[in-house]
Amino acid sequence: MKGVILAGGLGTRLKPLTKITNKHLLPIYSKPMIYYPLQTLVDAGIKDILLVTGGNHAGDFLKLLGNGQHFGLKHINYTYQEGEGGIAAALQLAEHFADGERIVVMLGDNILEKSIKKYVDNFRQQKSGARILIKKVEDPGRFGVVEMEGDKIISIEEKPKKPKSDYIVTGVYMYDSGVFDIVRNLKPSGRGELEVTDVNNAYLDRGKLCFDILKGWWTDSGTFDSLIKAANLAKRKANRKENA
Ligand code: G1P
Repeated sequence: MKGVILAGGLGTRLKPLTKITNKHLLPIYSKPMIYYPLQTLVDAGIKDILLVTGGNHAGDFLKLLGNGQHFGLKHINYTYQEGEGGIAAALQLAEHFADGERIVVMLGDNILEKSIKKYVDNFRQQKSGARILIKKVEDPGRFGVVEMEGDKIISIEEKPKKPKSDYIVTGVYMYDSGVFDIVRNLKPSGRGELEVTDVNNAYLDRGKLCFDILKGWWTDSGTFDSLIKAANLAKRKANRKENA
């Protein structure tokens, strides 16, 4: 299993903070944002990792992370996304790296309390397809919203005005090698991007989308409110560790 972290984009919702740096290099309490998803993948036993970045400050990732010694890695792979094509377009750049293997994809602004190891293990047991992690939140309309019937997902809508449930798709996605054909056949959404929600819906249409409900707290950190929320949650977790 290989890992892919998506850390491109212009971070426009965090301007002016992102005028002089990449969103994923901003601090979340005591560490740069990108440390959190990287640690989550490493803790899940994933050591072969590709970082997809873009924008004007891509070189700073190399300065910060180098070959990943801080995370016990020997090597990190990097690639660069030209322009603003959306999450699924960034994912496309991972095809060469994945080389037919399964991947765990993490959005670089997703911060999690607990390990994802057991979900990755569930995906290993899965014959084929995709696996997503869903979570109940108070503001579902900001995310990809899952519509359930019993214990089955029947649709996913990206940032709907009228969310059909409180369950949303977090930025941790597990895909088999079929994902790249799916991305190739996607059409840009209304906002002109290739949406990860359309990738997940393509798996859903084929009856190949599995899910787990994520335990522990989860947040993105791409808006001012979620940035400070992430910092406070990270602080609590760090303090708990110190006192343990
Ligand atoms: C993206 C996805 C959305 C998902 C969210 C999780 O949203 O498009 O489906 O729920 O990440 O963080 P964005 O961060 O681009 O608004």
